[in-house]
Amino acid sequence: MTEGTGDRLLIRGGSRLSGSVAVHSAKNAVLPLLAAALLTRETLHLRAVPALADVTTMRALLGELGAELREPAPGELQVRCVDVAGEAPYALVRQMRASLLVMGPLLARLGRVRAGLPGGCAIGGRPIDLHLKGFAALGAEVSLRAGYVEARAPAGLHGARIYLDYPSHTGTENLMLAAVLAHGQTLIENAAEEPEIVDLAGCLNAMGARVSGAGTPVVRVDGVPALGAVDWTPIPDRIEAGTLLIATAATRGEVELTGVVAHHLQAVVAKLRETGAEVWQEQGRVFLVARRRPAAVDVKTLPYPGFPTDLQPQMTALLATAEGIAAVTETVFDNRLGHVDELRRMGANIRVEGRTALVTGVPRLSGAPVQASDLRAGAALVLAGLAAAGETEVHGRGHIERGYADLPAQLRSLGADIEAGPGRVAEPARTLGGGA
Ligand code: EPU
Repeated sequence: MTEGTGDRLLIRGGSRLSGSVAVHSAKNAVLPLLAAALLTRETLHLRAVPALADVTTMRALLGELGAELREPAPGELQVRCVDVAGEAPYALVRQMRASLLVMGPLLARLGRVRAGLPGGCAIGGRPIDLHLKGFAALGAEVSLRAGYVEARAPAGLHGARIYLDYPSHTGTENLMLAAVLAHGQTLIENAAEEPEIVDLAGCLNAMGARVSGAGTPVVRVDGVPALGAVDWTPIPDRIEAGTLLIATAATRGEVELTGVVAHHLQAVVAKLRETGAEVWQEQGRVFLVARRRPAAVDVKTLPYPGFPTDLQPQMTALLATAEGIAAVTETVFDNRLGHVDELRRMGANIRVEGRTALVTGVPRLSGAPVQASDLRAGAALVLAGLAAAGETEVHGRGHIERGYADLPAQLRSLGADIEAGPGRVAEPARTLGGGA
């Protein structure tokens, strides 16, 4: 599903979440891993692939580029790219910005790529200048024609020293994907450090690449002539895990999450503890118990290991019923406070000043029809609905399905009263796709 189909989620708030739930693989790990399949003629076998709309979009794009895709078992995907084409059509890039991750591998493999240039989206302007500067540093000639970016390196890419002005997450991944088959050594400085980047490096190395330093600000890639087959299980989704932890805190419940990597959750766990929740970890599991109304805490989003922007809307929803005033500052994207107006419609007391939401906690939210403007805003509204008195209709369920593999089922298994329903409202005019 793409954007705002009008489908909705119906939530009757008030149940405390309680129980144990398993976390799926990470969307933002799976998408670059699928793009990595373009680097080789051999098979990439991915396990535990989550059923997400964005994964479906990436599969469609790979198919369009010439990949053979097989599902040998449920949740498993084999991708083989014997011959590939060099064009990522705008229609797919505008649906999902992560489509841009095919640029690096195609440029590396074919010495040329053409991709629709995405515009801004519901969470802000999203330039790709850092990706393109990096490709140019690797020896590609980059130009923009008729809304498409073209990059050409007829003699192949060569290693280079690339400094990123900002530690862009997919920028780092795209450049790693381009550099693995380049001649010589590439250094990506001020690289992003997200766990999904470490996972991609691990998979590339298992394919025969030579990548080191992933997860630190300097990633080193020593080019190799070719890559081979791989069998890989992506890391668990730290954002899904964080969403479930915050949801539990919002309903004053208790939860056990299984299949997680606890140290990927450090920032959110630290903040939840500050609100008064008890959180503890055992191997592969995280437990949270929240008995009381949370205390207000200030939150500032930052690149990893800072507090993730992808959990900011959910945290704002939690803080809407905290005791005291919280300042939530979004520094990563320039327009990611779209959920605030909707939370206000549920009775939240939030004032926005620039990139900061000043949240004065109220004892209880009340259910209302609300509209998700993007994936994480949608999750935040679901959380608010779980904690609210009465019934909440979250419209734009399609946004949520882009990045959560059946969040309603997970929440129901914890005792939430949530179901999918047909849409009653028209497509919202301000919904823009391509968020994640
Ligand atoms: N930026 C530039 N120039 C660039 C690239 C980025 O100025 O060339 C700016 C952006 O405009 C933004 C900031 O840098 O203000 C951060 O962007 P980044 O490139 O790090 O984000 P991204 O790679 O486009 C990924 C995730 C996002 C997640 C961010 C931050 C994927 C597929 N997407 O996006 O996920 O929010 O990193 O961690 O990995 C989501 O899952 O909901 C989602 C939006």
